[in-house]
Amino acid sequence: MSDTGNARTSSDWYRMLANGRIGGPLSRQLGLPRPAQLRRYRPGQSLTDGPVRLATAGTGKLADHVLTLPEVDQVVEPDARLGALVLDATGLDTLHELSVAQELLGSGIRRLRPCGRVLVLAGTPEQAGDITAAAARQALDGLIRSVAKELRDGATANLVQVSTEAAPADTDSTVRFLLSARSAYVDGQVVRVGAAGSAGGASPDTDAGAPPHAGRVVVVTGSARGIGAAIAEVFARDGATVVCLDVPAQGEALAATANRIGGLALQLDITTPDAADRLSEYVTGRLGGVDVIVHNAGITRDKLLVNMDDARWNSVLAVNLRAQLELNAALLAPETPLRTGGRIVSVASTSGIAGNRGQTNYAASKAGVIGMVRALAPRAAGQGITVNAVAPGFIETEMTAAMPFGTREAGRRINSLHQGGEPVDVAETVAWLAEPGSGGVTGQVVRVCGQSLLGA
Ligand code: NAI
Repeated sequence: MSDTGNARTSSDWYRMLANGRIGGPLSRQLGLPRPAQLRRYRPGQSLTDGPVRLATAGTGKLADHVLTLPEVDQVVEPDARLGALVLDATGLDTLHELSVAQELLGSGIRRLRPCGRVLVLAGTPEQAGDITAAAARQALDGLIRSVAKELRDGATANLVQVSTEAAPADTDSTVRFLLSARSAYVDGQVVRVGAAGSAGGASPDTDAGAPPHAGRVVVVTGSARGIGAAIAEVFARDGATVVCLDVPAQGEALAATANRIGGLALQLDITTPDAADRLSEYVTGRLGGVDVIVHNAGITRDKLLVNMDDARWNSVLAVNLRAQLELNAALLAPETPLRTGGRIVSVASTSGIAGNRGQTNYAASKAGVIGMVRALAPRAAGQGITVNAVAPGFIETEMTAAMPFGTREAGRRINSLHQGGEPVDVAETVAWLAEPGSGGVTGQVVRVCGQSLLGA
């Protein structure tokens, strides 16, 4: 039986209507989009909703390793309905092999179950042996992004580019995340995996069966409510001790979130001059250090640039970008509280990729975050620390609920899944990037946007 379902009741009236007994046939007849009920993670759930078929285009270098995942089977019945189709294209170097990939994907996609997964593993174009191979590898990028736009019923397609230095096991956390229900709203993305090196490894004080963040200390800024609260909840579910941080004005909501998940509440405005010192002292004194910092706190102060005053510009840049730069500098300083194998994950936005009318301050701050992540990742690698960003698209929060009806509806529908994401979708993506097993993923910006047309 399918275990598709949403953890909380969505406010998306159209999705409910289009999946109803009367609205369903009507929306089909009128050719309107039919947003599927997405399969989201529940404890005890199987990795995929149906068997995984593994196919190879060229001489796949990862197929043997992928087969060691317990859920993957090479000899799935030809007419079985698939939970996922994995294509190992790591040996794909010619246009003939590209055509083979196209055929394998075409035939497999017909057999996908609702909310199924298409996952292609390939080499990086830059490391190809010749120009044709580089072209063929890059061609997969366009192929997969288009497949993602053609899929129906909540299915997604993503591409993982694996560097030649990566060990097969370095891909595990990414493959599992993209196959699972945890990546429900991650679609049409290209993720790079390199060698984990000193950034890899298991959680401290844990055995193989323990949840991925057991024994780790995680700080989540702006976690009194919204996406930050969902991030704190997912880390707590996955075994972490979570420090929930927010401004004193949100003290009550902050305490409620921290109590709900058995975490700690730290009232702190991250823009105050001593914020970095206070956070460092807190985590060092109380918890002996920190393993993961999630820069989630963010604000909007929208105005067209011609009407933008200093206060709006400065406050957005201060919270969304300057505070992150200063906290990172303190956390990475000598005698750093951020431990070896640590993770920095920033919450950016698709506005920082595509730009948005009335949001010059916000988009500049979020694009700045992306610049920071890319520049910091190679510098932090020496300390075994990874630095990544997630860029959410339209997420169902108090902020988006307050939008005018037309703007909200447009925001919800202009993506391949024809619906907004849930805060938990961002949270699951952050938690994957922060996993001990994700040491090979750094300097990346992963969009959690259902393949939004904005900035596509
Ligand atoms: P929200 O407004 O519900 O939550 C943000 C939290 O940050 C609040 O609890 C707030 O008190 C806290 N905060 C603000 N300034 C702070 C400061 N100086 N120090 C400490 N905490 C501070 O917002 P939401 O929707 O949950 O957004 C979370 C993050 O996701 C933000 O960075 C936002 O830019 C980003 N995002 C949200 C999207 C959406 O559709 N909701 C889309 C793309 C990005």
